Amino acid sequence: MILIFFGPPGSGKGTQAQRIKDKYNMYHMSTGEALRSEVAAESELGLAAKAAMEAGELVSDEIVVGIVSNALNIVGGYDGIILDGFPRNLDQAKILDEKLEESDKKIDAVISLEVDREMILKRLAGRRMCQGCKTDYNVYFNPPPDDNECPKCGDQVICRKDDNEQTILDRLNVYENETFPLKEYYASKGLIHPISSSDIDSVFHECCKAIDSAKD
Ligand code: AP5
Repeated sequence: MILIFFGPPGSGKGTQAQRIKDKYNMYHMSTGEALRSEVAAESELGLAAKAAMEAGELVSDEIVVGIVSNALNIVGGYDGIILDGFPRNLDQAKILDEKLEESDKKIDAVISLEVDREMILKRLAGRRMCQGCKTDYNVYFNPPPDDNECPKCGDQVICRKDDNEQTILDRLNVYENETFPLKEYYASKGLIHPISSSDIDSVFHECCKAIDSAKD
């Protein structure tokens, strides 16, 4: 199964993908997470991506498509792949279609997480993450300890560099101008499953319903 999580920054793509991958034994391909690992490793790719990410802009299609193509070839041991944060513009969507066609695969469902702007701003301004085990915290919904030491692995809990107010607004603008039009692209193919904002468990329940209906 090939599943796309679609939605603005802070809509919960990563949160839901973590749960869905465990329940459905799927490979979770987060382009944002893959890029952050490259930046942390100071690889050539990471150095090329860093400035765009910190400015809230899209990284070049060439870099991102390379990362996703590698992931699409990882099939052994998994019952599918979750694309979280890809595609993010029409060119990426068309390249994905071509790559899938070459290997006789197809997108099964596009889950569109729908959250209003005010809630997005709160979620992203409050998000914190363990830099070691990547556990997600949120000062409003699931606060980290006062000393910011992750109880799971002892590493530091930090704020993502692109989660400052100005960059959040820039990311939202990029989403509206470049990514949102994809919703129509996938709706015209009958693949969109819209899910309205709610608590994490309820959204997970709705995601499972959408996936189960796409599998039938
Ligand atoms: P990426 O890492 O993909 O960032 P994003 O799309 O901005 O998404 P986020 O990770 O911010 O949000 P999310 O929807 O995953 O929400 P989350 O579950 O964390 O990309 C980062 C950058 O990389 C981009 O800006 C770009 O530069 C580059 N990039 C990535 N892909 C690219 C591509 N294809 N092409 C070009 N460039 C690319 O949730 C957010 C918070 O809310 C968390 O604290 C969470 O706990 C909380 N939360 C989630 N759901 C709920 C809920 N239901 N109720 C209460 N709290 C909730």
